[in-house]
Amino acid sequence: MSFAKFAEEKIPEISAIQDAFAVRAHAIQPNAGTGAFSALTDEQKSAELHESQTRQSKQETHEETGEAALPGKLPSENLLPERITSEKLMFENLLPENLPAFAEKIEELHRKSADSPAVFELIGTHCKIVAEMTLFVCKNYACKNCDCKSSVCRNVSDSKVSAENVNAALAFAGALAHDIGAYELVRGEGTDEDPIRYEKNYVRHGILGYNLLKNAGFDEQIALFARNHTGVGLTKKAIEAQNIPIPSDDYVPVTREQQIVMFCDKFHTKSLPPKFVTAKTAVRRCAKFSEEDAQKMSKLVEIYGEPPVEALARKYSMTII
Ligand SMILES: [Fe+2]
Repeated sequence: MSFAKFAEEKIPEISAIQDAFAVRAHAIQPNAGTGAFSALTDEQKSAELHESQTRQSKQETHEETGEAALPGKLPSENLLPERITSEKLMFENLLPENLPAFAEKIEELHRKSADSPAVFELIGTHCKIVAEMTLFVCKNYACKNCDCKSSVCRNVSDSKVSAENVNAALAFAGALAHDIGAYELVRGEGTDEDPIRYEKNYVRHGILGYNLLKNAGFDEQIALFARNHTGVGLTKKAIEAQNIPIPSDDYVPVTREQQIVMFCDKFHTKSLPPKFVTAKTAVRRCAKFSEEDAQKMSKLVEIYGEPPVEALARKYSMTII
């Protein structure tokens, strides 16, 4: 299925997630009526979502100045080193209905970068799988600490819910783009004579992808999904300690959306043949790098939950490790 068709099919799900976050943002505002959002027209919802995102950015700025956190904020859960609050504003135009056009553009770059159709199939399918898991996590996060069973969370009365908004459309777009740098390090036609193989120092695919996306004219905020998705976020300290062959710097997610894509990426491997990875195995794989990485991954599983690897493995006819 083309990336555009794939994105088109996900529009209702993404819109539902955006609505759930907007309902929450609306609910925590003074004078906001419970359930009022559901009675709005699509146009009003869009304006409300816009307004809640703007509001959230302003609230985050307040937090930086040391003012009291919003009720429902769970700061101890936040593994992000910093927040780039302008991103939400920059991506107001990346609405769910605009995703098919974005997906078409990014598929073009995937195909152009691939050495062979088999390599495109391998990397492209992985990106779509990560995008699917990303939506699961966004939905889970929207409904965090609430007990609703509906596809769109309306349980706005629970004061413990996280007030933080996540741009599910942006996260989905980022997932489709995140592994674009892999093409520079994967070779082969996928035949017995010319099998698919990964080049040495595959870890470089993050920074290569960032450069590729920037050179192709994609926004910085999309390119950062590629840059900051390897491992559980590569720190400058780890790069120097482990002699990792990329320029010494922090390559750590700096937004919730980037963190979700990086997290979901750990539940599917492009090994040959590609496989799904359980949370337990994902933590074990992180432990190969460091105990600290394993702990970070465990913490992320606690925050976001395990994506539905069994259902997806059945859907894509892949095994689970
Ligand atoms: Fe990936």
